[in-house]
Amino acid sequence: MSDSNTALVILAAGQGTRMKSDLPKVLHEVAGAPLLHHAMFSGASLEPAHSVIVAGYGAEAVEAAAQELDPDATTVVQTEQLGTAHATDQAREALAEFEGNVIVLYGDTPFIRPETLEAMVAARKKNAVVVLGFEPADPARYGRLVMQGEMLEKIVEFKEATDEERAIAFCNSGVICADAQLLFQLIAAVGNENASGEYYLTDIVGLARERGLPVTAVTCEEEETMGVNSRLDLARAEAAYQARRRMDALVEGVTMQAPETVFFSFDTVIGRDAELEPNIVFGPGVTIETGARIRAFSHLEGCHVSRGAIVGPYARLRPGAELAEDTHIGNFVEIKNAQIAEGAKVNHLSYIGDASVGAATNIGAGTITCNYDGVFKHRTEIGARAFIGSDTMLIAPVKIGDDAMTATGAVVTTDVPAGALAVARAKQVNKPGFAIRFMERLRALKLKKSQE
Ligand code: UD1
Ligand code: MG
Repeated sequence: MSDSNTALVILAAGQGTRMKSDLPKVLHEVAGAPLLHHAMFSGASLEPAHSVIVAGYGAEAVEAAAQELDPDATTVVQTEQLGTAHATDQAREALAEFEGNVIVLYGDTPFIRPETLEAMVAARKKNAVVVLGFEPADPARYGRLVMQGEMLEKIVEFKEATDEERAIAFCNSGVICADAQLLFQLIAAVGNENASGEYYLTDIVGLARERGLPVTAVTCEEEETMGVNSRLDLARAEAAYQARRRMDALVEGVTMQAPETVFFSFDTVIGRDAELEPNIVFGPGVTIETGARIRAFSHLEGCHVSRGAIVGPYARLRPGAELAEDTHIGNFVEIKNAQIAEGAKVNHLSYIGDASVGAATNIGAGTITCNYDGVFKHRTEIGARAFIGSDTMLIAPVKIGDDAMTATGAVVTTDVPAGALAVARAKQVNKPGFAIRFMERLRALKLKKSQE
């Protein structure tokens, strides 16, 4: 909690019927984070003193998600969805002692920019209530903002609007900023005698004006107000988010030949002069340092790639993969919970999990750290400058010393001392002429069978 004088109320009680999902709507994800988190990220720049999430459908799951991001967040439950004013009113008790601004956001509207909320807070200095408006390409069924000069006189819901009011292009995004105590006083005066039988939060504007209080609207871009009501909207929101992130990365000095094929998570960090080839997916928790190169068709999550490292093509980095500078991870290599030290190479067809690999070590093609015994996970520790022969099976727990080698095809079950060569495979036997005699016998057998 901070000492800021802003509180967030995030309305998230709706089931989202059109999502056709068992999951509450606000827990559907964009760029690896639930919609609810995106709404909380928008508000986070104001360093809110309180965040109150109004949950309804799937309240327990919504509360858990809110807590995961902000352990101080309060979740209140709206058992019946009686309208946006009724939803906001559920935060009354949680904010009873609070003095300052309340910002009401929707949990299914993930892209309101922090700058926009800051502009609203600034406008609040001269106004009792500030509403966020926008001019959509198609005003459809949005509530209309009735302005008189700088003054917002009222909001009319589409269902209630006259033809003249429906012709207004300036629409309500739903985001409202008001003094906390005034907000709850106004909400107490909101009734439900309207076309929907709902308590409209939008009615507080007219009520404030009746009291002679100044109310205004701040404007934002339509993209910011994009709401999610269906899977189609969710896919569109993902596309909008990715488009923005790709543009940001290009502006920040990241090279991408086909940016439209690179997918970021909400928290992906990419240093300048990094190069991202086509078709890369970043799951949550990835940091790519300056000058690293991620080659085509790679999938990364929960990992750190240092300067000068090369990953892929076709590499998979899973949570806990730590690549030091100038490491090379090649095709069809999977790294999980493993530290790969400076200059080490794992170039072909390998699985390195629960392991550490020392500096300048070379891991041969087809090496596998056999880390799982069916119940427990075990570690493999490989020293510096070691040479692991192709197709080595490292049965963990096991340690390979500095400058040690394993022979190709070794199945290593005990530690290998520094500088030693481990050979762990059957000795080769050559049987002269055997192959020819064997094939002749098989062909004769086949001929006999075909004559039966
Ligand atoms: C609302 C606004 C409208 C605005 C539009 C923008 C009102 C009366 N109308 O209309 O002016 O143009 O948003 O998208 O506010 N919710 C609850 N509990 C409830 C009702 C709603 O938590 O009882 C939540 C919903 O889950 C949703 C948000 O509040 O996240 C908005 O509700 P919704 O029913 O979509 O309002 P609209 O009719 O679209
Ligand atoms: Mg809506």
